[in-house]
Amino acid sequence: MPKTSDQESNPAIFIIFGGTGDLTKRKIIPALYNLFLENRLPENFAVIGTGRSKFTDAKYRNSLLEAVDEFSRSGKARNEDWSKFASNITYQIANIKDAAEYKEFGSRIDALKEEWKENPSIIYYCAVSPEYLCTIAENISKSKLENNQDTTRIIIEKPFGSDLKSAKALNKRLLTIFDEKQIYRIDHYLGKEVVQNIMAFRFANSIMEPLWNRNHIEHVQISVTEQIGIGSRGGYFDNAGILRDMVQNHLLQLLCTIAMEPPINFDADVVRNRKVEVLQAMRKILPGKVDTIAARGQYGPGWVEGKEVPGYREEEEVAPNSNTETYAALKFYVDNWRWQGVPFYLRTGKRLFKTSSLITIQFREVPHNMFQSEAGHVPKQNRLVISIQPDMGIRFQMEGKTPGLEMSLNTVDMVFDYAGKSKSESPEAYETLLLDIISGDQTLFMRADQVEAAWELIMPVLNFWESNKMANFPNYPADSWGPENAEALIAKDGFHWFSLSENNKK
Ligand code: BG6
Repeated sequence: MPKTSDQESNPAIFIIFGGTGDLTKRKIIPALYNLFLENRLPENFAVIGTGRSKFTDAKYRNSLLEAVDEFSRSGKARNEDWSKFASNITYQIANIKDAAEYKEFGSRIDALKEEWKENPSIIYYCAVSPEYLCTIAENISKSKLENNQDTTRIIIEKPFGSDLKSAKALNKRLLTIFDEKQIYRIDHYLGKEVVQNIMAFRFANSIMEPLWNRNHIEHVQISVTEQIGIGSRGGYFDNAGILRDMVQNHLLQLLCTIAMEPPINFDADVVRNRKVEVLQAMRKILPGKVDTIAARGQYGPGWVEGKEVPGYREEEEVAPNSNTETYAALKFYVDNWRWQGVPFYLRTGKRLFKTSSLITIQFREVPHNMFQSEAGHVPKQNRLVISIQPDMGIRFQMEGKTPGLEMSLNTVDMVFDYAGKSKSESPEAYETLLLDIISGDQTLFMRADQVEAAWELIMPVLNFWESNKMANFPNYPADSWGPENAEALIAKDGFHWFSLSENNKK
C-alpha cells in the first residue's frame, strides 16, 4: 500500500528491459515522471533503459519526452522539470538473450554505488513479451548481477503464463533464481485509486461489516466493459481471449477484494492470504456444466461514434475464422459462511457500448413493503455502486421520501465523489505500484499461489471453450451491450446487468 509522504526510500536503480517499447512509453516513464514531480522518488535514482536499437542517451531521453508529453496525466512536461528528471536516465543497447551483454549493467550499478556511497535497490523491470522472462532472469543470474534478497527486485507484467501448467512452470523457474519476496507480479487493477479504497471502505467503517454477508447481500456484479476493439494487439489477443486477458487477473482480483475476510493488518502476506482463501473457497466449475455458468461472445462489425469499425475477425493478425472470445460473462459462488448462496456475476468485453468498470452490490429486499400501494414509485433494493472508472466514486442508493405533501418515495444516492477530483489529479495505477516496488511493499502484487489459484479456477472454462467452437460467432455487434446468451445467463436467476446510467437513475 502507498506510503505516507514523509517515508524515505533507498536510492533505486531501474533497469528496464523493453526500454524502447510501448509499456515503457505509455505507463512506466510517465508514472516515474509524475512521482518525480511529486517528490516521491528517492533523491538518488537512475533509470537505465535497454533495447536492441541504437540510441544515444540524448536521443533516448527525447523519445521518452515525446511519450510523457503524450501520455502523462500531468500533460506536457515543463522544460526545467524534464531536464532534471531526464538527467537520471541513460540508455544501454543490449541483446537480452546474450548473458555476456549483461556485464555492462553490473559496471553501471557499481559506478552508481560508488557515486552515491549508498546501497541502492536494484529493480529489474521486464517490460517485454512473456517469452523472454525466463531468459532475462537466467541471464541476470548467470552474469552475477546484483541479487541481494533485500534490495533486488524483479517486476513481471501479465500475462503470467497462459494456463495453470505454464504459470506453475514459470513460477518454478523464477523461484530458482529469486525469492518470492523479490518478485513483483503486476495486476494494474490493484493499483487503481478506487480499488484501493474498497479496503478502506470495508475495513475502516464499522457499519459495513455487519451488512457485508449473505444475510443482507443478494448478489454482486463486477462489470468491466470497454468501448475499444482489439486494435493492433490481434497477434497477442487471438491466442489469449478475454478470459485470459481480463477475467483470470483483473476481475477475479476485484472479486477477491470484495469477498475477502478482514485481514488482521496490512502486511502483504496477511492481505494476500485472505485473497487466496477466497479463490480457494470458490465453487469448482464442473467441465460438463460450463454452459450453465458462463457465456461468451465475439464482436462483429458496427458503428462507433459515427465511424464504421471492423468486426473482430477482420482485425489485424486475427484468424478470419477465429473462435476467440472478446466477451465473457460468468457466475461464481464463494462457498464459505459469509457468502454461501450469493451469486457473483462477472462480465467483461471489448467493443461494448460504454467503457466503465463498476462493482454493484445489491442488498436484499425489505421484508415487507408498506409503501408500494401508497406511492407511484416501486421501491428499489438498496445498492452500493463502486465506480472504478472512468468516473470514480462510491454511491449508496436508498429510498427516501420526495419532499412535499405527498408520501411519495424516490431513489436517492449518498455519494462519495472524490471531492470533485478529476482523473488527471489522481495518481495512475502505475504510480502507486512503482512507489510500492521502490519501498518493497508487495501487498498489491500477485503472489505465486494467487496466480495459480486463479488459473486453476478458470481452467475448466478455458478447456471447454477451446474444444467447443461457437458456431454463431460473431454474436454481438460493436457498440452493443454484448451477446444475448450473457443476458440469459443472469436473467435465468431473475436479475439483469446493471449499467452506470441505470445505477444513476433516480
Ligand atoms: C489490460 C488488458 O490488462 O487491461 C487490456 O490486457 C485491457 O486488454 C486493459 O484493455 C484495461 O485496462 P484499463 O486500465 O484501461 O481498464
